[in-house]
Amino acid sequence: MPSSSKGGRNNKESAAPGVPLIKWVSRLAIAVLVFAICGFLDTIKHRWYVLDPTSLHELAQAAIASSPNDTAGMISHIVSNLTATYPSSIAWNTNADEWVFNNAGGAMGAMYIIHASITEYLIIFGTPLGTEGHTGLHTADDYFNILVGEQWAFSPGQLEMERYPAGSVHHLPRGTAKQYKMHEGCFALEYARGWIPLMLPFGFADTLTSTLDIPTLYNTVRVTGRETMRNLFIGKI
Ligand SMILES: *[C@@H]1O[C@H](CO)[C@@H](O)[C@H](O)[C@H]1NC(C)=O
Ligand SMILES: *[C@@H]1O[C@H](CO)[C@@H](O)[C@H](O)[C@H]1NC(C)=O
Repeated sequence: MPSSSKGGRNNKESAAPGVPLIKWVSRLAIAVLVFAICGFLDTIKHRWYVLDPTSLHELAQAAIASSPNDTAGMISHIVSNLTATYPSSIAWNTNADEWVFNNAGGAMGAMYIIHASITEYLIIFGTPLGTEGHTGLHTADDYFNILVGEQWAFSPGQLEMERYPAGSVHHLPRGTAKQYKMHEGCFALEYARGWIPLMLPFGFADTLTSTLDIPTLYNTVRVTGRETMRNLFIGKI
C-alpha cells in the first residue's frame, strides 16, 4: 500500500511538472506588485491634498469668535470662507441643509459633508444630545476641531480622560483608536486626510448590522459620491 500511494504521487508530479510552482510564483509576483504600487501611492498621497490642518484650525477658531452661541453662524462662516479662499477647481457642498445621520463605532450624530475626495474629507459632525463610542481604526489622520461643547477621549492605560473644549483640535493619528464622548451637545469641524475609501466600511457597518436605515445609507453614498466626483472631474471635463 505505501509503495502504490508513493507511485501515485510520483505519477501526478511527472504529469504536470512545475505548473503549480509557476502559478504560485506569478501569484506572489502580483501580490508583490500590488503591495509596491500601494506603498508608492501612499508616499505620494500628499500631492492630492488641498486643505491643511493648521489653516482649518485657524478657520474653526475664527468661526467661533465671529458667531458666539450660534452654531449655524459658525458653519456659514466656515463655508463662505472656504469658497472665497480656495480656487474654483475645488468643489464645496454649499447646501448646508444636506445633513444625514451618521452611526459608526456605536456613536450616533449627524453630519454635513462640505468636501470629499479620495484623499480628504471635511464635514461638520455632531449632535445636540451627546454621544459616545469607538473612533474606529483608520487609514487617515483625523483632526477634530471642536466648535461647540466638549469632546472627551481616552486610550487603554490612561486613567484620566483627555478633554477637548471648543476652539481646540483633537488629532487622532492614522492607525490609532480611542474611546470618545461628545459630551452633551457638541459639534465639530472634522478633517480627515489619507485613504478615505478605506474608511467607508467602518462608516457603514453600524447601518448594515444595526440601524438598517437605508434612506440614510443612500443619501450618504449619494452625497459622498457626488462630491468626490466633483473634485475628481471639476474643470477637467
Ligand atoms: C478665511 O479664514 C482665515 C482664518 O480665519 C483668514 O485668515 C482669512 O482671511 C479668511 N479669508 C476670507 C476670504 O475671509
Ligand atoms: C451664550 O448663551 C449663554 C446661555 O444661553 C448665555 O449665558 C451667554 O451670555 C451667551 N453668550 C453670548 C456671547 O451671547
